[in-house]
Amino acid sequence: MMTSALQLDFLDLRHFSAQHLRSLLDEESALWSQRLRWDYRNSASLVLQYVESHLLTGYVALEQGRVCGYIFCVYENNKAVIGDVFASRAGVDEASAVAIELQLIDRLLETLQHTPNLARVEAQLLLHPQGLHRQPFNRAGFHLYPRLFMELELHRSDLSELPPPEVVAWESDGKYRRWMASDFDLAPSVITASYAGHIDSEINDQYLSPGGAQRFLHNIVRFPGCGIFEPNASWVLADSHDHKLHGLLLCSRVSAGVGHVTQICVMPEFQGRGVGKTLLELCTASLQSRDCDAVTLTVTEQNSAAVGLYRRLGYRVMHRFDAMLWASGMPKNMR
Ligand SMILES: CC(C)(COP(=O)(O)OP(=O)(O)OC[C@H]1O[C@@H](n2cnc3c(N)ncnc32)[C@H](O)[C@@H]1OP(=O)(O)O)[C@@H](O)C(=O)NCCC(=O)NCCS
Repeated sequence: MMTSALQLDFLDLRHFSAQHLRSLLDEESALWSQRLRWDYRNSASLVLQYVESHLLTGYVALEQGRVCGYIFCVYENNKAVIGDVFASRAGVDEASAVAIELQLIDRLLETLQHTPNLARVEAQLLLHPQGLHRQPFNRAGFHLYPRLFMELELHRSDLSELPPPEVVAWESDGKYRRWMASDFDLAPSVITASYAGHIDSEINDQYLSPGGAQRFLHNIVRFPGCGIFEPNASWVLADSHDHKLHGLLLCSRVSAGVGHVTQICVMPEFQGRGVGKTLLELCTASLQSRDCDAVTLTVTEQNSAAVGLYRRLGYRVMHRFDAMLWASGMPKNMR
């Protein structure tokens, strides 16, 4: 069926309750699992809770009164983050579903354009293949950042021979150990220092300030926004004397057999000395011993040092997607 034949209506998301969107999100969860080995059901139920509380700004697409797509964003001060866009594939071909998603994006961007004092809009369409949704973002003057979704398969037969972390060599006064709850307060400064002037802090401005980095950590560590945090597979390199962190890796469980590295960063003065590699190997060994058969991560394609490191460790690209950014004062203006 072609979209031109579809009679679509677009209504404000706040008119809807969880029950109207449940089957659409079930369908979307199946696609997350098939494409990314990601169990999206926890995230989907969070979205439904927010829909029920009318906390999300967005639109629902209806065809003859039947819900067939949705888009939402959340506001954080004067920034909006587009959380998701999805249209049902049931009974329509992929191109028609994408066409509905493009219309949803157009509507939301138009609303955001008319939102007073909005300084920034971020989007990462992880589920959707690169390029498919670029048009409306291009028209609105967004910058696009190609990103990679990479995977390392863990073969239980060749369990890593990494020695216990206490004896992993480090120059003199650092020690690798698992993440502890008290690291929560030490981690923001590692994130802001590691990402200073980095392309990823253009895409996600939470990396720019300690407060932003703390909100990022809150979402990952204390909130099931991106899988379930896995402290046993999350590692730090800590100074033996003052206990400051030189580097950290955070890992979440995104489905029964899959861990996802949600953050890896090393203080600039410690980069290029094998810390990142060791953190990744420790994470891999922990996941293997916890019956995982794969570990995944996302990386900005332009971050060639990180992409090279992951490739050398055996990660391969499973999927490519886009991150988008509009900020006031950017050369091509949205208004
Ligand atoms: C990416 C990052 C975590 C890697 O950690 P690291 O401790 O620097 O990595 P390692 O020292 O283990 O590096 C492994 C390899 O990459 C090379 N490398 C690391 N950083 C590099 C850089 N900035 N430029 C060029 N090569 C680099 C190392 O020389 C080493 O090569 P080898 O394996 O052939 O010996 C770290 O550079 C970092 O924090 N970067 C900023 C934040 C970031 O990009 N995080 C990843 C987001 S997906």
